[in-house]
Order: sequence, then C-alpha cells, then structure tokens
Amino acid sequence: SLRVAILISGSGSNMVSLVESMTGDHPARPVLVLSNVPGAGGLDKARARGVQTAVVDHRPHKGDREAFETELNTVLEEARPDIICHAGFMRILTPHYVDRWAGRMLNIHPSLLPKYPGLNTHARALEAGDSEAGCTVHEVTAELDAGPLLGQARVPVLPGDTPAQLAARVLKMEHKLYPAVLRRFAQGERAPIYMSQETAED
Ligand code: GAR
Repeated sequence: SLRVAILISGSGSNMVSLVESMTGDHPARPVLVLSNVPGAGGLDKARARGVQTAVVDHRPHKGDREAFETELNTVLEEARPDIICHAGFMRILTPHYVDRWAGRMLNIHPSLLPKYPGLNTHARALEAGDSEAGCTVHEVTAELDAGPLLGQARVPVLPGDTPAQLAARVLKMEHKLYPAVLRRFAQGERAPIYMSQETAED
C-alpha cells in the first residue's frame, strides 16, 4: 500500500481524521506524523494511534527556510512517502522542498480557495459578508495556497457567527473532505470532489 506522511504544527485533528480513515481496504497507510513544533498536541495523538512521529523544529534555522527544508527533506526521505498530507502545517515552503516532492503533496486550507489564501480566513469571510464558507484540498505547488483543486466543501455562514463558530463548522467538514480526497488521490483520481454540509450530515 502507499506510504503517507502527515505534516502538522498544532492540534492535529485533521491528521487524526486521516489516520483513522486508513483502515481496511484503504490503498494507503500512515508511516509518519511530522511536526515543526516540538510540543504540538497532534504528536501524542499520533503516538496513541501507533504512528511513528518526528519533530523538525524550524526555530534553530530562523531566517533560513532552505536549511529547515534540508532537514525536513532528510527526515522525510527516511520515511519514503508516496503521499505527503499537509494538515495544519503552518510553514511557508520554497522550491527546495516543493520541487523534491512535486505531485505527491496535498494541503487543506480553511477557505473556499481562491478566496482567502493565507491566514485569518474565517474573520475575512465574515468581514466580507459572505453567505458561505468552507475548506479546500489542493495539490501543493510553489505558490502559496494555489495548487490544482482536489476537493472543496461548503458550509453556511449563520447570522451572528464569530470567527471561532465558523471555524468549528468548517473544521467538521475538513474532517470529512480530507479523508475522502486522500482515498481518491491514493487511487490515482485527480478530478475534484465537492461536498456541502447538507450532503455530509452524519
Ligand atoms: C485547520 O483548520 C486547517 O485547515 C488549517 O489549520 C487548522 C489545523 O487544525 N490550516 C491552515 O490554516 C493552513 N494555512 P488541526 O491541527 O486540528 O488539523
């Protein structure tokens, strides 16, 4: 089966949804969870699920993205991933990393790209008065939050929503969209899939 590495920086809830999806007849399996933040909550969650973990701290390489990415590439090369899922991995990447793994990297972003690349997506959607929000899974290319679309899920914006309330609604959909896209990607499928909260209710 295909080998999947998952890159995180924080709580790792998307990582958990990916790991827990890779059971039974799934065409892939998790071989590594890697964090650039030493104390990231997701590391314990990965270990608790029997997945090997690694930390590549970016801070000793302050201001030198290539040095950080050299170390990242070395650790990943040992894991020999066929697919790398970025799941709340909060580093800007350069061609030093992106070219090494071209065609194998997925990312989830909490907006309906091409709207709101970058940070604070939910506050920006509310500020703009949008009636819907959502999340996007795309292939990673050198341009931030801009690679080919693999999947998108929409949720309504409700009256009085705070950024935190909207983030929670979107995150639930992230946990459905990302595993669905990963399974298809592992099967060689590149056509995007679309979900909305109405069609994804459990
Ligand atoms: C998720 O909402 C993810 O879409 C977002 O960070 C959160 C990570 O949560 N990613 C980005 O903003 C990437 N720029 P998690 O650690 O619980 O999966």
